[in-house]
Amino acid sequence: MEQVSGLNVQTPAANKGSWRAVFGAPEDAQLHLEIGCGKGDFVVGSASRHPEIFYVAVEREPNVLLMAMEKAQAAGLRNVLFIDADAATLGDVFGKDEIDCIYLNFSDPWPPKKRHKRRLTHENYLRVYDGFLKPGGEIQQKTDNTGLFEFSLCSFSQFGYTLYDVTFDLHATDFDNITTEYERNFAAQGMKIYRCVAKKAK
Ligand SMILES: C[S@@+](CC[C@H](N)C(=O)[O-])C[C@H]1O[C@@H](n2cnc3c(N)ncnc32)[C@H](O)[C@@H]1O
Repeated sequence: MEQVSGLNVQTPAANKGSWRAVFGAPEDAQLHLEIGCGKGDFVVGSASRHPEIFYVAVEREPNVLLMAMEKAQAAGLRNVLFIDADAATLGDVFGKDEIDCIYLNFSDPWPPKKRHKRRLTHENYLRVYDGFLKPGGEIQQKTDNTGLFEFSLCSFSQFGYTLYDVTFDLHATDFDNITTEYERNFAAQGMKIYRCVAKKAK
């Protein structure tokens, strides 16, 4: 843990509204957020490919988060930080219009209807994200789960976000994809990967 402690933000709410300054990034730099980053392949791959973009990755399972931070540390990345938190608390962590893009990769599907409120694309979560997603900002979702995907498309639309790039077979497209751990497992089992972009009005 000591080795990666510089990547783990212990009091994230103290950075509310000043994350770019925390990174030493220019004021107009892009700041992206991954929620439920798991073991970190996506955020580490993204941060390696885009050194000009700054990333914050959130994960509520400390052991999984540690693995993600170890990967970022091994890659020598300076443009990614990690937070051990639940998505529901992120309104305390990011300021109005602070985030350009949110990634929701293979979020837990919570299949029974009585658990739909736990889905990270439920209206209650979209309201939290809307507090810090800038106008014109995006939520990018990938999943293998048909029920979650259909629910999310409805949820984004009903919330007033515009849908783009909706695909039901991402791996059959020429999209320049960065895969996650879950994505590789599901694809290896022959499952189709769904993706969409939901855009907030300018
Ligand atoms: C199915 S895994 C997917 C992990 C990774 N994104 C991937 O695609 O390989 C979902 C992850 O989201 C995390 N998670 C679920 N709900 C969360 C919440 N409310 N806040 C933060 N993390 C959450 C879980 O702990 C888990 O690591």
